[in-house]
Amino acid sequence: MNYRTLVKRALAARFHSHSPFSRFKVGAAVLTSDGKVYTGCNIESSSYGLTICAERTAIFKAVSDGKKKFKALAVATDHKTITPPCGACRQVIVDLAGNIDLIMATSDGSFTVMKMSELLPHPFTAHNLDQG
Ligand code: THU
Repeated sequence: MNYRTLVKRALAARFHSHSPFSRFKVGAAVLTSDGKVYTGCNIESSSYGLTICAERTAIFKAVSDGKKKFKALAVATDHKTITPPCGACRQVIVDLAGNIDLIMATSDGSFTVMKMSELLPHPFTAHNLDQG
């Protein structure tokens, strides 16, 4: 699957966003190594801190379906500029998917691709838990 198609899936997923508090609709689509796509949106809680971002919704859906290897994750919003993933999502993406391509799209479908190692250099990972 090409990245343009993955971006389209992320753009479509944002329409499921449950964001009555921020009104900031986010969609994500993660591509697995075996060519499947899992989408996600942000889901907000009235207890704001319990909100989950679109990126984590997508990757948690994939992992809960038994997926362990990933190629890329696209994130899209209603905005004309790209939205980079938040710090919490960067940590979770690196933990579960490693150094994949992160595709950041605007509302009109143009996009920028960065490696997770660029977005989260020097990450804390499971390897750090094994030391000492
Ligand atoms: N949000 C995401 O879904 N992904 C991001 O990368 C940034 C933030 C959501 C969380 C919250 O529902 C809203 O956007 C405003 O922060």
